[in-house]
This record gives sequence, C-alpha cells and structure tokens, in this order.
Amino acid sequence: MSVIGKRAVRREAQVRADGAGLFTDDMKIHGMLHAAVVRSPVARGEIIRLESRSASRLAGFEGLFTYKNIPGRNSVPIVIDDQPCLAAGRVNYIGEPVAIVVAQSRETARKAAGMVTVVCRELPPLLDPLTARNHRKIRLYGDDNIFKHMKIRRGDVDSAFRLCDVIIENEYRTPFQEHAYIEPQAMIAVPNPDGTIDISGSMQCPFYVRKAVTTVLGLKDSAVRVVQCATGGAFGGKEDVPSLVACQAALGAWLLKRPVKIVYDRTEDMICTSKRHPSVVRYKSGASSDGILRAVEVEYIIDGGAYATLSAVVLFRGTVHSVGPYRCENIKVDSYAVATNKVPAGAFRGFGSPQILFAVESQMDQLAEKLGLDPLEFRRRNILKRNDVTATGQKLQYSVGLEDTLDRVIRVSGWNPRSDREKDTGFGLSTIFYGVGLGAGGKHLARTGANVIMNADGSVTFSVGTTEIGQGMVTVLSQIVADRLGVPLDWVTMIPTDTSRVPDSGPTVASRSTTMSGNALLDACTKIRTQLIDEASLILGCRPDQIILDDGFARTETKSIPLLEVIKACTAKRRCLAAEGWHVSPPTSWDDETGRGDAYVVYSWATNLALVKVDRETGEVDVRKIWAAHDIGKAVNPALAEGQIEGGTLQGLGYALMEEMAVDSKGKLLNTEFSTYILPTAADQPDIVPEIVEHAYPDGPYGAKGFGEQPLMGIAPAIANAIYDAVGVRIRDLPITPEKIWRALKDTNHKDRISGRDRAHS
Ligand code: MOS
Repeated sequence: MSVIGKRAVRREAQVRADGAGLFTDDMKIHGMLHAAVVRSPVARGEIIRLESRSASRLAGFEGLFTYKNIPGRNSVPIVIDDQPCLAAGRVNYIGEPVAIVVAQSRETARKAAGMVTVVCRELPPLLDPLTARNHRKIRLYGDDNIFKHMKIRRGDVDSAFRLCDVIIENEYRTPFQEHAYIEPQAMIAVPNPDGTIDISGSMQCPFYVRKAVTTVLGLKDSAVRVVQCATGGAFGGKEDVPSLVACQAALGAWLLKRPVKIVYDRTEDMICTSKRHPSVVRYKSGASSDGILRAVEVEYIIDGGAYATLSAVVLFRGTVHSVGPYRCENIKVDSYAVATNKVPAGAFRGFGSPQILFAVESQMDQLAEKLGLDPLEFRRRNILKRNDVTATGQKLQYSVGLEDTLDRVIRVSGWNPRSDREKDTGFGLSTIFYGVGLGAGGKHLARTGANVIMNADGSVTFSVGTTEIGQGMVTVLSQIVADRLGVPLDWVTMIPTDTSRVPDSGPTVASRSTTMSGNALLDACTKIRTQLIDEASLILGCRPDQIILDDGFARTETKSIPLLEVIKACTAKRRCLAAEGWHVSPPTSWDDETGRGDAYVVYSWATNLALVKVDRETGEVDVRKIWAAHDIGKAVNPALAEGQIEGGTLQGLGYALMEEMAVDSKGKLLNTEFSTYILPTAADQPDIVPEIVEHAYPDGPYGAKGFGEQPLMGIAPAIANAIYDAVGVRIRDLPITPEKIWRALKDTNHKDRISGRDRAHS
C-alpha cells in the first residue's frame, strides 16, 4: 500500500494557488447569451401580472420567459415534487424565481430583470415554524404545513423519567447559516443541433441537475449531458440549488437555441439560495444518581422554508442523531420539518445534525453538573461502544472508535476537568457521531459507478459520478486507483465528472465520495489488475498470487519488471485494460412508526475539546485552542483529512459565535452581503489540533469511512460548554454573541448582588 495513507499534495493545488484554474464564469462560448432572474418581491402573494415593456425595449434584450414557456413540466423535483421552476400564480418566498430574462450581456440581462415589475396581491406570510405548524387558516403545504414528521419510540419515557434522580429540560434555538462558498451559483447551457443539450457549471450533484433539466425541458436522460466545472466551494449549498439554476439557463438556451450562461451575484445568491435549517429544539433528559442516562424526550422542529426540497432527509439525519452517541433505553423523539414563507432551507455540512447536537451536548454538560460529575466522567459512563445499541436499535458491531477519540483528546490536551485554570478560561467537551452515507433515508440512491481506462503508455484516466467540491476527492480517489493498479500517482488523472461517463451514481453528499466512489473504483481496477497480474505471471514464470503491483513495477519476492513491459504485452495480445465498476451500499433499514432500524451502514465518531477565554467586560469569546479527534476508519490521505478537520472546525466556530442570517417581519433576509453577514476569518482561527483515529470499516476502501461533515458538527456545543465552564453563563440560542454573554453576565451579577444582599440581611 505504497500510496495509501500518504500526504499526497492536492491534485489541483497548483492551479488554485496560481489562479490558472477555470471556473464556470471564466468559460466563454461563441454566441453565448446571459440570463438573469426576475424574483418575487413578497414572501407570500398572488401574481397579478408582469410589467416588462420597458425591459424588452433595452438594446440587447433577447427574451423574457415565464412558466408558460416551459416545454416540459414546471417542476424542479428534489425529494417531494412541490417546487416550481418558475412561479405559476403564487409566490411563497422573497426571491422566488418568477421569470427569466435573456440578453446579450450579463449587465443588460440584470438591468432588464430589474426593470420587470412583478405586480402581486400580497398576502400575510407565515415566518415562524411554530406558528406555521398546524396553522388553521394559511395552508402552505398539505393541510398542516408539515413536510415531514418523524418519530423514535423506545422503552417507556414516562416511567423512566419518574425514576430519574436528575432531569434537565430546556429549549434551544439555532438560526439560518449561510454556506458562503467563494464561488456563487453558476451554470452554462448549450443546445446542440441534434436536439440534445449540454449543461456545465458549479454543482455537487450532476445527476440531480440532469433530472431537473429533463423534467423542465421534457427530454430523455440521454438528451441531457451534465458536466461539473471546477466548483468553488459548496458545503451542501450546491446539492439541490444548482438544479434550479441549471433549469434557468437551460430554458433560455432551449427556447432561443443559443448558449446561455447564468451567474448569480453575491447578494442574489444570499437572498435566494438554501441555508442551514433554523431550528427549535425542546429537550428533556434524565439520569440516575449513578451517572447513567436513563431517558430522553425531544421535540425537534426545523424550518424548511417555502418548498420541501431536502427537508425530509435533513430531518431523517437530525432525528437519527437526536440522542447523540449515547446508550439510552427510553426515548421519545418527535421531529418536524415545517413549511414557512422563507427561502427553502437545504443541505449544509452536517445536514440536520449540528442543530440537534448543540442541544444534546449542552444537555449532557448540564446533567453532569447536576449529578456532581465532571463532563468527561459523565460521557465516559454513557458513550456508545462496540456491541452497544443506538437510539434506533442498531447494534454497533464494528468501527466504533468514540472512546479512542475521547482518550486521544484527553491525552494530547492534558486536560483534567478537576484541575485549576486561568481566570475566565474554560474547557468544553463534545462527543458526537455521524452516520456515513445516505443511510436508510436515501438508500435507493446508495450506489455508484466508475470507469477506468489504462492506456498503452501506462497512464490511467478514471471517471466517477461524485464530484470534487473542495473535500479532496480527486486526490484521494487517484491514490486509490494508483495503489490498486500499482502505478505512480502521477500516472493517474480524473476526468471531470460527467453524466455521460458513468451510470447515475447518486449525489455528492453525506460524506460519501471516498467510500462509494472509492469502492466502485476498486471494483473497476480489480478487473484491470487481474489482466495485468495474469500477464505478469506469464512473463515472470510464477503464480498470479505471487505478483505484487507497486509503483510502476510488477514484482515477486525475487524478480521485478517494469509494469510498462506488462502493459505492452497486454496491448500486443489485445487484452482489455479498461473496466466499469459499480458499488451498492450494504443494506440499511428504517421503520417509520417506531423509528427503529439500522439507519446507516457505519458511523464516524469524534471528540472536540475547546479552550476559551471570555472577556467579562465585553462578552467577547477568544477561542484559544480546539483539539479534535476523529475516527474515520482510515485516512487515505492524512493531510487532506486534517484539512477537513481544520476547515470544518472554523466553520463550526462561525456557527457557534457569529453567523446568523436575520429575517425581518416581512420575511426579508437582512444581512445578504459579506459586510453584514459575519463569518470567521483567518484572524479568528484558533490553534486547531487535528487527531486521526482509525477503526477500520470492513466495507470501506482500505477501511475508510466518510467524515467530511463531522468536523463542523460538534464545535458549537464544545464552545458553548467551554463558555459555561469559564464564566458560568449558559447560552441556548446560537450564535453566542458577545451581547448575549454580556447580558447574561449582567443578569447573573444582578442576581448575585440580590442574593448577597439577602444573605447580608438574614
Ligand atoms: Mo451534504 S450537507 O450531505 O450536501
């Protein structure tokens, strides 16, 4: 395994660093037009008419298209088929697409779109999910405004709570989080003379894009080819949204028979694309005096916005993770994804789990305190270990490294929860887990294809159906191919992801690209490898099982020849050195009534420890250091795994302390620019100590499990717990801003003064 586990440099590092890499907006095609979108000015209303006369008189104007011009079906199907491509009669959020304008330049297209007036009869919007749920008059979805309700029922919570010695019950809230990918949404559609259409652009899920375009244009899958361009960040924000963006470009291109490009500007992107679901969590947990978690009752509500998009599957992941990585016999969970008149919320690194884990891990610390245990000891008594059973009744038979991540963090940090520390500093722990892949919530999509071609000169190209979105997939998969075929890494090249190269491989989400595409590539490479080994054994006069392919050579214990000689011999005999690969995920299960099942094929595990210092005068938090240990099965490339930990940790720090997309009483997003939406920068980066733990996943390539989302997921609670440890203030709504801490400190001081005075009087 010469190249597996090596810190190979990111394949695209050079072109990213020197700026030579091309993104969608850099592409120019002869005769290309530009599209811009006319959007709803109101959060809920009926469209009366469009006034577009002045726009259509602009020089360079080419066309304005509404839902009436759609040749296929006016629908962008994601999970549930409720979202139109262009609003037909009704609008349900500010920024909802109503029409597209196509013009000769981007400036003209945008100017013309801005000149079109959407005349609406404005209706009162529902903006709060608690109000929207079961609203008696306003119906946004079905007859209760609930996209999806999920349950877990296990044991008997009512009797269990009666036997608990301590009970903690709280409400937690989390806001919209913006992905803030560097490159905004961008697509190009090119119609071909043969009646097919090519789509290229910035995206996570080319097969989702293809499905959307075939639906809207009324075409066969074979008539739409989707190619991913270099994608400047995604984080879930390019899972479902590009389907809509692609349809906007495709519709213009199809109707005008010209290439059409669309690129959102930053503010437009922030107004009208998905974000992390805001949430309300009502959490009650109880333990017995021996420090054992006995009962958990949860109501978890996520605000799905105007259309269902991915909310049902986001809710699935959130529900499965709603008890945290702990043993518990008595569980009652009810979770809801609710419709409101806001931009549809969607996928974002962690996918419904960061919200609930903030509540879970805050609860665990409060339970520990009330039990008189430190947070470390309380977790030690309750975390999931091998052969334990999860909240959904899944027995964990392999790859359960949570305790090792906890031990690693304690060892590396030297933290002792009982020892003294510097004034106003505190430590906060979180222990979390992540169900790898689509799981039972998306099992019909849990398969992937691959194609590998070894050329006569030994160079190798491969294609997969998953995409590079900054996670390092190209490099990791190239390492897998190089290892399996025994060639040096620089002989291997990945073809940009293209729906015409491999069968539908599902989406690039759920931290699934290494495991799924890795396994499909191993399948393909094994077929080529068999040919090479067979030929090498003839040349070397030995048995095939004596041959080792490694770094450009075919070897036995005693002899070695260049692999190129073997390839030459294969070529002379017209052996096929190309193959297709396919991988289907092992089975998962789920029962909707009880919330029982083997929800995911395997879990990754992590422990985070944050060290903070709080300024009592200003409420500011200085996150000094975060230790983060992750069990990822096997690090195919440790440098990239550490990079994921560093990036995800900083994104989690933003979620903890700064990020919040605010909404006004009319449903308008207020901070839709980077000057007003506050993100962590390099200046906010704490000292991050990434640690990798490897409990092999038997069905993963080289034992690898996915974990790209996990680094973000447990940071907010670790920081919240550290802030409490530092100054005794517990904030239960994210982000934990200086204002909230300052106010809470003031209240505490006030209470202390009053109780102090009481004491003095008595
Ligand atoms: Mo990802 S948040 O599963 O697109």
